[in-house]
Amino acid sequence: MAAWQPVRSLGTTAWLAAGILFLALLHLLCCSPPVTRDAVFAPLLQYVNTTYYSSLSSSGSGRSCDYSEGRWVWAPGRARRYNGTACGATEGQDCVRNGRPDTGYLDWRWQPAGGCPLPAFDASAFLSAVRGKHVAFIGDSMARNQAESLFCLLSAASPHRVVDRDPETYRRHFMRWAFPTHDVTVSVYWAPYLARSAGKTVNYSMPYNLVYLDAPADRWAADADTMDVVVLSAGHWLLHPAVYHNGSEVIGVHAHPELNRTEIGYASPFRQAYRMAIERLSSGRARTVVLATYSPAHFENNRLDDPTACARKEPYRDGEKELNKMDEELRGIVVEEAVAEAARRSGGDVMFEVLDVTKLAAMRPDGHPGPYMNRDPFAHGVRERMQTDCLHFCLPGPVDTFNEILQQILIKRRW
Ligand SMILES: *[C@@H]1O[C@H](CO)[C@@H](O)[C@H](O)[C@H]1NC(C)=O
Ligand SMILES: *[C@@H]1O[C@H](CO)[C@@H](O)[C@H](O)[C@H]1NC(C)=O
Ligand SMILES: *[C@@H]1O[C@H](CO)[C@@H](O)[C@H](O)[C@H]1NC(C)=O
Ligand SMILES: *[C@@H]1O[C@H](CO)[C@@H](O)[C@H](O)[C@H]1NC(C)=O
Ligand SMILES: *[C@@H]1O[C@H](CO)[C@@H](O)[C@H](O)[C@H]1NC(C)=O
Repeated sequence: MAAWQPVRSLGTTAWLAAGILFLALLHLLCCSPPVTRDAVFAPLLQYVNTTYYSSLSSSGSGRSCDYSEGRWVWAPGRARRYNGTACGATEGQDCVRNGRPDTGYLDWRWQPAGGCPLPAFDASAFLSAVRGKHVAFIGDSMARNQAESLFCLLSAASPHRVVDRDPETYRRHFMRWAFPTHDVTVSVYWAPYLARSAGKTVNYSMPYNLVYLDAPADRWAADADTMDVVVLSAGHWLLHPAVYHNGSEVIGVHAHPELNRTEIGYASPFRQAYRMAIERLSSGRARTVVLATYSPAHFENNRLDDPTACARKEPYRDGEKELNKMDEELRGIVVEEAVAEAARRSGGDVMFEVLDVTKLAAMRPDGHPGPYMNRDPFAHGVRERMQTDCLHFCLPGPVDTFNEILQQILIKRRW
């Protein structure tokens, strides 16, 4: 118990962030100079960029929009779409309830580059687009953040009920909601590596994870044949210490030098995890598989316990902040895998799409709970060290925009 307590009080966010910071440090200390990495990634992203969006516009019905680039535009009241408390949002992301005093972070809309409009979320249009379907989110706590946003957006306008949930309700490892008017079910499956895992994912006092890259995590794998729309969203846990397996064989470790095994980094297991999930979802049923790209954290001064780590009150302006290389790399892998699958399975029953949110998320350092992950954090004054969440988004908040883009993807889909 003594060992469990302090670790648990750190919370998932802190662990995630610890991974991120560790990695950032690793990059600084060990890796090739940035010029080399730029040289490697620039041509790749160029390729991904042009091939993906041109393949979409040639195969889709009518004009396709590229929502991945753009800017945040001041739009008062635009994002106050629901009451996070009323829809049961995770308390740590219910920033209004927790006493966040400023509301300006709710007053922005995403304007895609090139003049394409991004319409506001429309619950009845969304439900009509997925009538009779099971929409499943699979991944880490960012997948859950988006799933809860979707539930809140839909439930503000439609009858709904919670049909099933993790019996340990604080964990929210699984939830399922129903929207009976359109016979729609929405589920979220927490599977931070997509793959089966053990270790720290199930017991925070373990020092590392054991990840089985050849096997989907059990809970979602059991339900996979019922899923019509799947949103995959993972990445942050790949930065944690882990031992990676292919079946019974250890294929490498990450950030765990004590084990004296090959360091395999985060990029290769990340790609393999997506490939495994894609493989599992590529048969059995006609469906749409949406690969969400990495949503970066904003612990700006590299401290997890600093109440000012993400204290900005406004989005970054266009050009104010470049994506860091790791965010760009993880984004690139997801886009590449989506492009490759879309091409390979063109004309088949399973469609692959990318929900490219990295840029728009990276521009929203103001949209996180920060210290308002806890209720009234400054009730006893400002302390130098306080729990702070600069990874997830407030509900309501910028993550609602992920679902506005998802809506456009699904409306375009012809079943
Ligand atoms: C992606 O394409 C847009 C428009 O063609 C271009 O402005 C941008 O620089 C490209 N991004 C990368 C990373 O190549
Ligand atoms: C949000 O809902 C909660 C519970 O349903 C309620 O107590 C609260 O007053 C509402 N907040 C706003 C701003 O309407
Ligand atoms: C969690 O891991 C710790 C350290 O390995 C172990 O002592 C403890 O029994 C585990 N707790 C549970 C609930 O499995
Ligand atoms: C895992 O093992 C299988 C069977 O031996 C092999 O075909 C596959 O290439 C391996 N995958 C990885 C990522 O090592
Ligand atoms: C680690 O592995 C290498 C090569 O297998 C071996 O030479 C070395 O002694 C090992 N180190 C430890 C600490 O086990």
